[in-house]
Amino acid sequence: MDRKIEKSMEALIAEVTEYARKELSAARFRHSEGVAEEAARIGAAEGLGVDKCRLAGMLHDIAREYSDEQYAELWKRAGIAGKYGQDPFDHVLRHGKAAALIASAKLRIKDTDVLDAIMWHTTGRAGLTRLGQVLFVADYTEPGRIGEHFDRVRTVLARFGLMAAVAEECRLTILYRASKHLIPADEQTTFAAPADINVYTVETLNWALGELARERGQRG
Ligand SMILES: [Fe+2]
Ligand SMILES: [Fe+2]
Repeated sequence: MDRKIEKSMEALIAEVTEYARKELSAARFRHSEGVAEEAARIGAAEGLGVDKCRLAGMLHDIAREYSDEQYAELWKRAGIAGKYGQDPFDHVLRHGKAAALIASAKLRIKDTDVLDAIMWHTTGRAGLTRLGQVLFVADYTEPGRIGEHFDRVRTVLARFGLMAAVAEECRLTILYRASKHLIPADEQTTFAAPADINVYTVETLNWALGELARERGQRG
């Protein structure tokens, strides 16, 4: 990278970091810093540009603490309408979509690879880009995430690589959400809202498993 581009990338990351610091609680800002560093680490191992990984990590949750009113205002300004006046995105997807809109409109980030990775960071999608895979997994494996599920994805990442980690993260997310609500123990127990087991996560799992099988087949 030439010096000028390198310098402007540095300035952009500094600007985005300051924006995130102002928008987020201290705990979530720490999480974003963790994701940025973890994305850079995974990205470097994958041969991706680490600055882009860092940028996506710092940006991914910038709308996570928006109120319903702020989301509504954002959709209105972007000309996105929901059916019957409802929010056009479910609660799982909306902070990713909002972060991509803010990154593009307010922070002048036009790199579609970065914007796409941010948009899909909660659910994944079939055909997720490499940067998207890095961010999806880094959001789960950053050092602040403590627990068995996170350790499992860390182990899979280290032993079997990025695509396997994507698959494992999808599988654990689906299992976790399903197990919480499948068998109501009494009248008070509520079933999962349809958005809780996200169709994009199911599609991402199927796609990732297909890719892994194809890779294995190619290796013979
Ligand atoms: Fe998020
Ligand atoms: Fe996150």
